[in-house]
Amino acid sequence: MTYQRPLRLGMVGGGQGAYIGNIHRLASRLDGAWTLVAGAFDVDPAKGQAFALAQGIEADRSYGTYLDLIEGEKDRADRVDAVAICTPNFTHYPIAKALIDAGFDVICEKPLTATLEDAIALEALAAQSGRFVGVTYTYSGYPMVHEARVRIAKGEIGKVRTVQVEYPLEWMATAIEQQGNAQAAWRTDPKKNGRGGSIGDIGTHAYHLAGFVTGLKLESLTADLATFVEGRALDDNAHVMMRYEGGARGLLWSSQVALGNSNGVRLRVFGETGSYQWFQEQPNELVYTPLNGRVQIIKRGADDLSEDAKLRTRTPPGHPEGYLEAFANLYAGFAEAIRARTEGREPSALGQNVPLAYDGLKGVAFVEAVVDSAQSDLPAWLTPVAV
Ligand SMILES: NC(=O)c1ccc[n+]([C@@H]2O[C@H](COP(=O)([O-])OP(=O)(O)OC[C@H]3O[C@@H](n4cnc5c(N)ncnc54)[C@H](O)[C@@H]3O)[C@@H](O)[C@H]2O)c1
Repeated sequence: MTYQRPLRLGMVGGGQGAYIGNIHRLASRLDGAWTLVAGAFDVDPAKGQAFALAQGIEADRSYGTYLDLIEGEKDRADRVDAVAICTPNFTHYPIAKALIDAGFDVICEKPLTATLEDAIALEALAAQSGRFVGVTYTYSGYPMVHEARVRIAKGEIGKVRTVQVEYPLEWMATAIEQQGNAQAAWRTDPKKNGRGGSIGDIGTHAYHLAGFVTGLKLESLTADLATFVEGRALDDNAHVMMRYEGGARGLLWSSQVALGNSNGVRLRVFGETGSYQWFQEQPNELVYTPLNGRVQIIKRGADDLSEDAKLRTRTPPGHPEGYLEAFANLYAGFAEAIRARTEGREPSALGQNVPLAYDGLKGVAFVEAVVDSAQSDLPAWLTPVAV
């Protein structure tokens, strides 16, 4: 085996008290493929620099702003290989654009951008520049999600008929954005979050997961958005009926007010000859039911799983893996994709099927279509009930 230098990661956002930045830090370290060497972690430059130092980042790479990071890194011989963007949605585009223009690869949080216009521009920029833009659609990192994907692609449940996908959360069931919760505050501000509330924040995950596992392309949809918490500017509950290419139907539910659900991502795919079900709070299991057969539980780590699932697995069956490992699988895939491009070769299986800028663009287009549908005067489904 030859020495493989860990890729150098920079980070924007994810400072003290922030949520997803810490998950990126943990996940990127898990396989030794990345080392965090630079950051502009906070919207407040002084706080960001103090946080960077406390994370063990060298003082000369503890930056106040992302522009300082670009300036400080661009001419270094040991400059960062990629920068993770872990900031609120409306900042993704300007930060990603500045990084790409300066020649950096990017790992961007979802939704890719807050507006469709920005998403189109960013995807085009990624394509023209040849820079890598990975998008952290977390749920596509799970090995049993890959297992379902491989089995469905092989035709094991026949043609897919219906897809039920949901992402219910409960933490925004009251007006916490009016009581000082900063994370809820930007998520309920259309200028910072984008037009879709729950649908942009978590519906995008569900939409990506359904398409990733089934390979189906969405053709059209009709949506009903609701805002249950008084004074909230964006939806906190979304129901979307979907029609996929080839006639399959889908139903997507996202909710930020679903009491009793912490992160209840659930996917059920029903085909002509069987079904698969996966639930992120029990991510080590995939439930398979064949036509006229018994319900079977397929466990992560089993010998007969696909290579795609196996290479995203670290511990033997019975030693649970979860969210951090799934996120680490994305980071491992991003590292492999970047290395392959640098070395002028095709990525190995780990670096394939990772979410990229185009997947991010599709997610933003989905959110826009949902909001457009919900705001249209007469949605196609609004047939009065006579009795
Ligand atoms: N992949 C997932 O499963 C997942 C989960 C949660 C959040 N997210 C996404 O991650 C992003 C961040 O969400 P969060 O919940 O961690 O937010 P957060 O409010 O907890 O943290 C945002 C951080 O960004 C910093 N920041 C803001 N503007 C900045 C700037 N211009 N320069 C540097 N730092 C800046 C803030 O100071 C803070 O540290 C959002 O796009 C969100 O949709 C993804």
